[in-house]
Amino acid sequence: MWSSELRLTRTFEHIPVLFHEAIDALALRDGNCAVDVTAGGGGHFRALITQVGETGKVLAMDRDLRAHADDAAGGVHKEFSRNTHLVHRPFSQLKQSLSDLGWSGVDGLLCDLGVSSPQLDQDDRGFSFKQDGPLDMRMDQSQERTAYDVLEAASQEEIADIIFKYGDEHRSRRIARAIKSAWPIPDSTLFLADLVRKSSGYHNSRVHPATRTFQALRIAVNEELQELQHLLDALPDVLNPGGRAAIISFHSLEDRMVKRAFNAGARGKNPIWQLQTKKPITPSEQEIYDNPRARSSKLRAITMLSPEGSSTLEESL
Ligand SMILES: C[S@@+](CC[C@H](N)C(=O)[O-])C[C@H]1O[C@@H](n2cnc3c(N)ncnc32)[C@H](O)[C@@H]1O
Repeated sequence: MWSSELRLTRTFEHIPVLFHEAIDALALRDGNCAVDVTAGGGGHFRALITQVGETGKVLAMDRDLRAHADDAAGGVHKEFSRNTHLVHRPFSQLKQSLSDLGWSGVDGLLCDLGVSSPQLDQDDRGFSFKQDGPLDMRMDQSQERTAYDVLEAASQEEIADIIFKYGDEHRSRRIARAIKSAWPIPDSTLFLADLVRKSSGYHNSRVHPATRTFQALRIAVNEELQELQHLLDALPDVLNPGGRAAIISFHSLEDRMVKRAFNAGARGKNPIWQLQTKKPITPSEQEIYDNPRARSSKLRAITMLSPEGSSTLEESL
């Protein structure tokens, strides 16, 4: 069962992004405790287990039950269940999850933000403007509020703010006006995509005119930035001295939050961690060619200092 070889598994049709870079950044050793807070298809999760060996332990979290299936992180958990735990929770509940297991801290934490390929590709999840489905976009389907509910409850101004802030969409006002003037308001992905295409007035744009609106709605429905802030706030409490955290983001707002939090903890008279990456690590041209969804990914990593302030950081990156 155990092999020291690092395998990149193409589980559940999701190709892990910045795979070797993220695993190298964590530099896990035999016997370590690690957590993968976005287990998804289990590609990174499997690699973490390989790294900590038979005496180590890995906690995996994912708020989408799809990730808990046998062809995803759930299958990896079954295979290595003596050394793994898998919980169906948002990573804002990381501290609670560690305390439930009686773990005082972890030596490595991986967070691979964004959506998995099955979330994007399954039309009934409502994430994609490329195929028709209900306007849903919930990562956790036990959550009540869907993307449709957000559009229905929010005012025109609130919708415009969401699309502008989370989607960087400069034509947010006219899109929001079209959404709120439509009767009924859009309840399917293609309905919304078509409405955005017509109302935004983009012609010959390189990306689909609805790209930024869909991204913004998804971030709002899943409260993705609030989740990330919770995780960043928890890092000092959950990382053991010398422990490392690696975060892969796909959106400039997320990367800015990670960069700010990492820089803040590395500055001043009493820094709590050391930056492993002054500049983010980005995918190679080959990786982008093989997996276009890796295009906007950025990896940043830190190493926790010991309380005396001495660093265990090795020149690894
Ligand atoms: C990009 S995929 C991770 C892929 C994974 N690294 C792999 O190797 O297959 C992101 C996953 O994180 C999950 N996710 C996103 N935000 C989350 C959150 N706040 N709490 C828990 N899971 C989250 C999504 O449901 C999705 O399955």
